[in-house]
Amino acid sequence: MKVPLLDLKRQYIAIKSEIDNSIQKVLDHGMFVMGPEVKELEEKLAKYCGVKNGIGVASGTDALLLSLRALGVGPGDEVITTTFTFFATAGVISRLGAKPVFIDINDKDFNIDPALIEKAITPRTKAMIPVHLYGQMAEMDEIMKIASKHNIPVVEDAAQAIGAEYQGKRAGQFGTFGCYSFFPSKNLGAYGDGGFIVTNDDKLADLIRKLRVHGSKPKYYHSIVGYNSRLDTIQAAALLVKLNHLPEWHEARRQKAATYNRLLKDIKQVKTPFVHDYNYHIYHQYTILAEKRDGLKEHLKAKEIGFDTYYPLPLHLQECYRDLNYKVGDLPVSERLANLAISLPVFPELTDQEQEYVAEVIKEFYCK
Ligand SMILES: Cc1ncc(COP(=O)(O)O)c(C=O)c1O
Repeated sequence: MKVPLLDLKRQYIAIKSEIDNSIQKVLDHGMFVMGPEVKELEEKLAKYCGVKNGIGVASGTDALLLSLRALGVGPGDEVITTTFTFFATAGVISRLGAKPVFIDINDKDFNIDPALIEKAITPRTKAMIPVHLYGQMAEMDEIMKIASKHNIPVVEDAAQAIGAEYQGKRAGQFGTFGCYSFFPSKNLGAYGDGGFIVTNDDKLADLIRKLRVHGSKPKYYHSIVGYNSRLDTIQAAALLVKLNHLPEWHEARRQKAATYNRLLKDIKQVKTPFVHDYNYHIYHQYTILAEKRDGLKEHLKAKEIGFDTYYPLPLHLQECYRDLNYKVGDLPVSERLANLAISLPVFPELTDQEQEYVAEVIKEFYCK
């Protein structure tokens, strides 16, 4: 049996007629940029996220970039974030000429350790980007307490966590901005790139809307230099269909995670994901900590089971950040978990037989 890490074809087959009809409507009306589906999605998705304003942009990366830009982040500024995340979280800070200040994670939920944030704050700290990794939210109460004490705006990187909850509140409801990604593999994925920003601040929402169209309002009058960063109408049309299915897809992923937890619980070399009881984890990834991880990877590969390692090298040790002068050992939890973490196939259409096979193959590796 072959088990893919993710199979988007299965999802498409299940919703084919809805998707095809929705995209056909766009082909018929021809408004491919900023068409009516974009506005409809913005309204519906903002409501789903529980935030007043929603703005479609070209990618999750741009969602973060435009949010930081709207907060005035620029050369000489510092932005605090986690070292254990996808590169985009930090890349946007650097692209604005600011300096990423990397913080270690806690070894339970892989998210930024709030106890380490305050020490990293300086007079140059302009913003903070907590990331809700793998679909589980960071400790937002503690983070927001520190942020408001020091008057530092928070941009939530919710790229992996649309619809995830912390104490009953959804990702994106805490910060000045919440940023999401519609990268195809995400729980709410487009058929190409796309991203989304939410904010309760009307003025900042207007600024983001302006930034995504070259800084112009009215058209052809540019008070600031912006970007070309819009969500395509065709992507919005597909996302409108998928948004209707999102709650049931989240539930299916959670059920797959519970099945893995049960199947893997007796393997002492494997640690299944820790979930705070006040969190609603949407399992964008099902990530375990595995002893002899690289051997396990080889074994899974030989048995044709998909996996990935998110992320093999924390950002503070990346070559492009050598001039920040971090060294091995500076952020030890992230460095340790980067050698243990491995993500297994988890998606709504994954079958029980496939999950059982994955668990069997893992057992076989540790018991041989
Ligand atoms: C944590 C995180 N931040 C930012 C991004 C960037 O999103 P995108 O790929 O849509 O630009 C991603 C995903 O790819 C991500 O996982």
